[in-house]
Amino acid sequence: MPERAKARVGVLISGRGSNMAALLYASRLDPACPYEIVVVGSNDPDAAGLKLAAAEAIPTFAHSHKGMKRAEFDAIITRELEAAGVTHIALAGYMRLLSAEFVTHWQGRCLNIHPSLLPKHKGLHTHQAVLDAGEAETGCTIHIVTPELDDGPILGQARIAVLPGDTPETLAVRVQYAEHQLYPRVLADFVSAADRPEALLTRVRGLIQNLPATADKLSHGMPAFFVEGGKFFAYFTHDHHHDGVTALLLKVSGQDEAAMLIEQDPERFFRPKYFGPAGWVGVVLTDGPDWGMIEALLTAAWRLCAPKRLAMLPI
Ligand code: GAR
Repeated sequence: MPERAKARVGVLISGRGSNMAALLYASRLDPACPYEIVVVGSNDPDAAGLKLAAAEAIPTFAHSHKGMKRAEFDAIITRELEAAGVTHIALAGYMRLLSAEFVTHWQGRCLNIHPSLLPKHKGLHTHQAVLDAGEAETGCTIHIVTPELDDGPILGQARIAVLPGDTPETLAVRVQYAEHQLYPRVLADFVSAADRPEALLTRVRGLIQNLPATADKLSHGMPAFFVEGGKFFAYFTHDHHHDGVTALLLKVSGQDEAAMLIEQDPERFFRPKYFGPAGWVGVVLTDGPDWGMIEALLTAAWRLCAPKRLAMLPI
């Protein structure tokens, strides 16, 4: 088996960047670490963590969000991250709400750290809220980012005791000790599991959500995606024929296109069984496919199956 490429992580910060540093040092300490930090970005050009990253020879970027629309600013951040070849994002004290566009684009590939035991105490002033609530313990949480603030599937938590006389400041310090242990571990586990069917399906769903008027249902036991008022254009298959293959089956323009894709890259593309001779191609989703190419094929498949009035839409 060829060695798997490391996940290329972009870290977004707004302040000190101690979690960014913890992620970076953990990755450098362990040659087998499945991720590397390739870029650090900020919405605050004065964020102290930027200097630290630069001193460690990590490329950085900063853009002030002042006076910009949220989605417009986030598009700049996405461009920066993609220019650096980022595969995953770690938010580490990035104190800026994200646009729905950004979250959808990076769905299933963007993690956040929050200094409480979520779902308790979302939002700001967490440590004060913990003290006000008289909690005996608090901690930190790593979760997958979804459009809702401090929500999304929880990947890991670390707990710490609240001591008599604790203040928001003393709590913050101890929570951060725990954060620095937790984040590298959870990020490493998460990127290693990138080939898991659930992670791949989440990513496919994220791309499909960007296409107009789509819905899905189970068909022949597979999540199948269709255009409302139109036809099925994609199926997600995992081990369907007990072959261990996780793939996307996509509508294409015809036999010629399917044959061309298979000839170009026979490891990635295949002719799906039982889908008739023409019009469909399978794309293996494991082992790091070109997701830009998958997005383009999905859009083309959607267009082939959409009713005329939708197929004309520019997307
Ligand atoms: C961390 O404690 C993180 O949990 C928190 O900001 C701090 C950043 O510190 N994040 C949030 O409050 C997000 N809502 P750092 O810049 O030293 O990593």
